[in-house]
Amino acid sequence: MQKQQLQTETPKPKAVTIDQWTIASILNWTQVHFEKTRPDSPRLDAELLLASVLDCPRLDLYLRADQPLNEQERGAYRELVQQRAEGCPVAYLTGEKEFWSLTLEVNKSTLIPRPDTETLVETAVEQIRKWQKTNPETTCKIAELGTGTAAIPLALCSELRNLDIITVDCSAEILAVASRNLQNHESLLSPRNNNVQLVESNLFSKINPDAKLDFIVSNPPYIPTDIIKTLQIDVSQYEPHAALDGGPDGLSFYRYLLETAPGLLTAEGEMLLEIGFDQEIVLTSLLDNFPEWKSSAFLPDLQGNTRVWKLGKQAS
Ligand SMILES: C[S@@+](CC[C@H](N)C(=O)[O-])C[C@H]1O[C@@H](n2cnc3c(N)ncnc32)[C@H](O)[C@@H]1O
Repeated sequence: MQKQQLQTETPKPKAVTIDQWTIASILNWTQVHFEKTRPDSPRLDAELLLASVLDCPRLDLYLRADQPLNEQERGAYRELVQQRAEGCPVAYLTGEKEFWSLTLEVNKSTLIPRPDTETLVETAVEQIRKWQKTNPETTCKIAELGTGTAAIPLALCSELRNLDIITVDCSAEILAVASRNLQNHESLLSPRNNNVQLVESNLFSKINPDAKLDFIVSNPPYIPTDIIKTLQIDVSQYEPHAALDGGPDGLSFYRYLLETAPGLLTAEGEMLLEIGFDQEIVLTSLLDNFPEWKSSAFLPDLQGNTRVWKLGKQAS
């Protein structure tokens, strides 16, 4: 009798309380929220933030989809979602970013490494491999201007051996992040006969003028000063302007490198630079003032945008 009564009762709609948030439901809710507030990559952002709070790999969120979140997890996640909705980049909230399949620590003093910069890494790997074929068993000497998280040196070390890289940045705070990234990826360094030296230096002022480098690589600041404030808020209000600001026309660091690098490179030395997608024409005319460079080529990324400038002291 009692059983029958129970079966015929109309089930009451369950009140949705915050206690019932599961991984799946909170991700769905956040995705919709970010679609309205930060629409670039709403699902990915939600997953990265939740994986960070739960301290688990992102894919585990799917294996644990029905797991409810406790109050502390919800509170921590809510705080991150709010900051993201206000514009703070996910990488600054999670404290890390993937670059060239390496997980790198980032903080607000460092630029967040961009997929665009992987084109520079690809070009550098290719050119250094060619160099190593003609200089077998020889250590390749490289300098980088503006290391940030040490993304470029670490990516090169993950692909190559026998590299001696000296890399500079202008603040101790940035270099502390770079140093921790080197420590976290120590297996790419001495076991592969690679050495990366971090130096606090304004431009290349602390590099030995007789360095005789085989390569110079750089992703320098290249945004014209006045343009920075027009960029999306994630960049203009959160990323360090010292990493973006290329002076009034965006070319200050290219002028410096075109002038200074020939004296630091060997006779066969090459310079590989990331450039803004719209800078090829102005850089081509800038080069007319620097006759020591005998070869110059602009290389596109996968989208067909010119991204890398390859310069040589010898005609190619
Ligand atoms: C566009 S970021 C590149 C960071 C990193 N290499 C990357 O690709 O993600 C440029 C870097 O140059 C550094 N920088 C700016 N002015 C500098 C200067 N005068 N001397 C040395 N480094 C400088 C910035 O701090 C920043 O880390």
